[in-house]
Amino acid sequence: MQMKPDQTQHSVIHARITGTGSYLPGAPVSNDDLRTRGIDTSDEWIVERTGIRARHLASEGVTSSDLALEACRRALEAAGRLADEVDLIVYATSTPDFIFPSSAAILQRKLGIRNGGAAFDVQAVCTGFIYGLTVAEKFIRSGSHKCALVVGAEVFSRILNWEDRGTCVLFGDGAGAVVLEASEQPGILASSLHADGSYSDILSVPGQISQGLVTGSPFLQMDGKAVFKFAVKVLAETAGEVLEAAGMNTLDIDWLIPHQANIRILQATAKKLELSEDKVIVSVDRHGNTSAASVPLALDMAVRDGRIKPGHTLLLEGVGGGFTWGAVLLKF
Ligand code: UT7
Repeated sequence: MQMKPDQTQHSVIHARITGTGSYLPGAPVSNDDLRTRGIDTSDEWIVERTGIRARHLASEGVTSSDLALEACRRALEAAGRLADEVDLIVYATSTPDFIFPSSAAILQRKLGIRNGGAAFDVQAVCTGFIYGLTVAEKFIRSGSHKCALVVGAEVFSRILNWEDRGTCVLFGDGAGAVVLEASEQPGILASSLHADGSYSDILSVPGQISQGLVTGSPFLQMDGKAVFKFAVKVLAETAGEVLEAAGMNTLDIDWLIPHQANIRILQATAKKLELSEDKVIVSVDRHGNTSAASVPLALDMAVRDGRIKPGHTLLLEGVGGGFTWGAVLLKF
């Protein structure tokens, strides 16, 4: 379904978030639970280095799109929209259900959408949701689409090497989604997206499928220290870019919602931006690093617990494999 831009319309079309939703599978798995499962680690080490206290792990057979489905149902309910009103699905994931069809197409089927709207996946690892939101915003502002679901959903537990304590304790599974609609009121104010492929080796899953076999490694590998340094630098830079583009400064931000990878990265970013830590939404303690799902998960939690209110100015930020990074500044 391709809608033509309304040529008679003179007012600017904005893109606004009208509903949020999230979903975490099963019961939380604590740091001590990981120890009992045979991982040579401690609650003290994980909490001190990362702030993570628990993660959720999807049961065998549960896929990324199953988690996305629950998050999207909640987001649609919050927006007061029916699934069939959605004419665009942008789905950020690095752990898709299959090589193809896209997880977006599978999600469209699971939501029962039969209107022929567009649906596609975005691959920008932990920056995926920021990329997805920016892409969907451009579709909506062009007038071609009116009601989008932007989702980040991951089953990272499937690509973790459980023998590698340096990475397996950090990640978890989950999904978060927003409904993004055409509006006369400003919503997304500015966005900025970046990538630098010369850093692709510091965080990757360098496996390939060929002739029915996996070649290379199907497990996540990471140079943690290099990622840490890079993340703090670019998160502060990209925040500055969107604030400048919107003619705002740090004082205008009600809530900073960065990619939830590590509490120390979040704290360092707030410090660089000279932003009080109590303006940073933190949910990494509850679900670990859920890659593309982390920003919409944190957003939804803070909307539902009443911290984020209509009219608030939010700065969303992502950083991850690729290397990719970016930010979206918006009025909620
Ligand atoms: O979306 C982006 C995703 N990535 C990130 O956000 C990660 C960014 N990086 C980090 O957060 C940190 O680099 C880590 C938390 C991953 C690691 O912290 P670190 O301070 O860089 O630790 P390290 O890798 O240098 O390891 C220090 C020690 C080592 O022991 P020795 O060699 O000093 O005796 C590790 O073997 O900690 C040990 N260690 C652990 N100990 C207990 C590594 N993993 C664990 C563990 N439990 N799970």
